[in-house]
Amino acid sequence: MAEQHDHQHHHHHHHHNHDYEKANADLFTEYAKTYRTEFSCEIAKRCASYILQKYPFDSSKTEVLDFACGPGLVAFELLPHTKRIVGADLAQGMVDVFNQSVEHQGISSDKLHCVHTDALKGDQSDLNGSLFDVIICIQAYHHFKDPTDITRALSQRLKSKGRLMIIDFIDDNETNKVFQQSQHEAHADIVAHRHGFSSEQIINMFKAADLQNPQVEKAFQMSKSEMKTYQGHEVFGKAMNSDIDFILKYFIAYADKA
Ligand SMILES: C[S@@+](CC[C@H](N)C(=O)[O-])C[C@H]1O[C@@H](n2cnc3c(N)ncnc32)[C@H](O)[C@@H]1O
Repeated sequence: MAEQHDHQHHHHHHHHNHDYEKANADLFTEYAKTYRTEFSCEIAKRCASYILQKYPFDSSKTEVLDFACGPGLVAFELLPHTKRIVGADLAQGMVDVFNQSVEHQGISSDKLHCVHTDALKGDQSDLNGSLFDVIICIQAYHHFKDPTDITRALSQRLKSKGRLMIIDFIDDNETNKVFQQSQHEAHADIVAHRHGFSSEQIINMFKAADLQNPQVEKAFQMSKSEMKTYQGHEVFGKAMNSDIDFILKYFIAYADKA
């Protein structure tokens, strides 16, 4: 018993800096099988349509990394416009669901597949040293403990003239109301930036990663009453049933590798 205890203690100590990532990986592995809903699919479609507007995709050339891809809802939307897409996620459950969908749809894994990634390692060996024309990161930045570090790591995976594109919540009062009451609050300790980001914060991350021509634009929004028309809005928990009104606003931000 004593030996086992010592082992566990050692194990815990060794992974101390990974606790935040471990908690996120566990949470999203739990969500993986139920992540696809009417609501998440609608958001993924809107994200894909903005991404397609902000880069000249070429189905014979464009190689894409979808970082923190989840089950790949956005990647599947973009696929017809790309040469190949690699998904990468911290949660093994998401990686599994993504790759099962690829197989079920009879898509070649050369064209689309997902790898497990631990961004903390700063070690991108799991991506086989590939460089990408476009890296997208959708609805995930608010989960990153150090989004500036991740921006730098992603910048290193871009080809020259490649583009990093981020979609996340706009940090403003109306959007924040949902987080005050939602289920997300229960996970507050593992959602580092649950209120989203201001334009200044995003521009500063791009600059720190030495990316050029940073742009932040409002993309789309969804009001509470519109959300209620999609199955899956229940993930926002208490805020949906309360009488507080809110609007979720999403930005798209992008910048280029020199
Ligand atoms: C809200 S989901 C978004 C999934 C997908 N991009 C979409 O828009 O449908 C956030 C995802 O980020 C992943 N994630 C969280 N922290 C991460 C990290 N440090 N590195 C890679 N993925 C991470 C989670 O596992 C989860 O799949």
